Amino acid sequence: MCGIIGYIGDKKASDILISGLSHLEYRGYDSAGIALMHGKDIDIYKAEGKLVNLIEVLKTKQDVCEKSKIGIGHIRWATHGLPTTINAHPHTCNCKNLTLVHNGIIENYQELKEELLAKGCIFKSQTDTEVAAHLIANEYGKTNNLLKAMQNAVKKIKGAFAFCAIHKKEPDRIVVAKRNAPLVIGVGQNENFIASDIPAIIEYTKKAIYLSDHQVGVVKKDSIEIYDENDSLISNKIELLPFEAIAISKMGYKHFMLKEIHEQGDVIRNILSGKLISPKDSIVLEDFKLTKEQINKIKRVQIIACGTSLHAGLVGKYIIEKFAKIPTDVEPSSEYIYRDTIADENTLVIGISQSGETADTISAIKQVKENNSHIAIITNRTDSTMARLADSLLAINAGIEVSVAATKSYIAQLISLYLLAIFLGEAKEISCYKDEIINLKQELIKLPNKIEELLEHTENIKTIAKKYSSFKDFIFIARGINYPSALEGALKLKEISYINATGYGAGELKHGPIAMLDSDMPVLAILNTGIVYDKVLSNCEEAKARQARLIGVADYIAPKDKDLFDDLIMIPKVSDTLSPAVNIVVLQLLAYYIAEYLGKDVDQPRNLAKSVTVE
Ligand code: G6P
Repeated sequence: MCGIIGYIGDKKASDILISGLSHLEYRGYDSAGIALMHGKDIDIYKAEGKLVNLIEVLKTKQDVCEKSKIGIGHIRWATHGLPTTINAHPHTCNCKNLTLVHNGIIENYQELKEELLAKGCIFKSQTDTEVAAHLIANEYGKTNNLLKAMQNAVKKIKGAFAFCAIHKKEPDRIVVAKRNAPLVIGVGQNENFIASDIPAIIEYTKKAIYLSDHQVGVVKKDSIEIYDENDSLISNKIELLPFEAIAISKMGYKHFMLKEIHEQGDVIRNILSGKLISPKDSIVLEDFKLTKEQINKIKRVQIIACGTSLHAGLVGKYIIEKFAKIPTDVEPSSEYIYRDTIADENTLVIGISQSGETADTISAIKQVKENNSHIAIITNRTDSTMARLADSLLAINAGIEVSVAATKSYIAQLISLYLLAIFLGEAKEISCYKDEIINLKQELIKLPNKIEELLEHTENIKTIAKKYSSFKDFIFIARGINYPSALEGALKLKEISYINATGYGAGELKHGPIAMLDSDMPVLAILNTGIVYDKVLSNCEEAKARQARLIGVADYIAPKDKDLFDDLIMIPKVSDTLSPAVNIVVLQLLAYYIAEYLGKDVDQPRNLAKSVTVE
């Protein structure tokens, strides 16, 4: 995690660094710092807590800010050492000539630290990053050249990093390096930018160079040189950035999360466009690179993902097994990597990731790539590391998601999985669900309007949110294809309100969790008309008999059953198969309004980061 930024040009560097860091806050926000270079001097300013604290510090340093046209900055998500000012980046070496910011984890930092201590280095922080600062400075002592020092140092480092370094003796450049952590160089006119992610620089330039792993770069105001792992100069590949600056504005909503929930109708339209032409036509997935013949040879599907993306994958299992008749396993990436997994050339591996940068999923994908399995990546970031590992890249095109809690990217992942499941079934010419598939396609086309209709009538959800906001625990139950909805609904509530919420398969309630039920434990039950409806209703009865307060999220409740529920949220009717895409919108809103009512920092919940680039 963590976000890094760099600027070199003729403008006031501090403004660009602070604005860039504000767009990287989703990557972490426990402390922030910048280093400003003016002439042959470097001044470092740091502050614990959120970026506003650093902005306050800088208000008293305007003289330095005015004259500094080069700088590097960092926003931290602590891995080594507490989130204190001392541990905040930038870090320096003994003589303070070299200053560095870092994203990633240096795995052999203890070993390196011992060697550097023996050489007389004095450490001030508990971070792994400070080791890199001393190490590069040490190499500088041998070479008197920041580029060479960086090139030599990274060869000694194990682990993941994106570095930005400046040196008092070379005041015309920022030297950068990357391995297993994102880094992009924004190309400007007489100015250049460096960032962990595009939102930090998109308002200044639409041209960029994505650094690849093991590359080192020298960024000056009017030139960029990139060197490969053999230290040879390579030619620059300048790409056009995909995002508009407007995507990072709240557009009048109080929080990005609410804005992003409201964008879901359009997100669905976007994904369907060109792929679902009409209910009678087959799904078109040009980006899925397997032929019909190859699809027919697939013996199993393995879905690997984390967090919210994992929940989308669980829905994927239901529909791939149903429509494509291929056995499908879903596993958290962090578990997948430490097992002897069985995947071969007849396995389709689907990696799902909003950011495309989640370290666990990247490791899992790299591991499975060796088995010759076909790798399909479902991601919102076609410019990400995972996208570059894909054999088939299925872009969800949800637009940039700023709020840490994933909402629109989840629905976009779901819709992509519906399309993929139908596509695989059609390629295999499975006919048993022909009519159901035509109906599902019709429903998919109407889905955006249904969701927008739901979003226009949220008063009931707001009232229920307020009523339940003081509870400390919550249980979410559902069965069948909505079991993942219960998990995702509980995760959303946990993430942004810090209420202890757990999702269970409703049938599992009686096998343990029921012991926790009393009047202090609200139970939210998801009921969609379908094969599990009566079963979930019975599970609701069991909960009510233990005095639990019952909230129903349902598309139908018979008049005789209405009294069972303390509160009801009625949702538009869709088939059981498509219901996860509607139910989740209600659960997102419920979590949002509870957190908002409690005054929580909805877009940047404590301890979380949107892109988890450490294993
Ligand atoms: C973090 C985020 C979650 C997200 C998970 C996976 O933990 O806080 O919201 O679901 O990472 O992220 P990915 O980008 O791989 O979908």
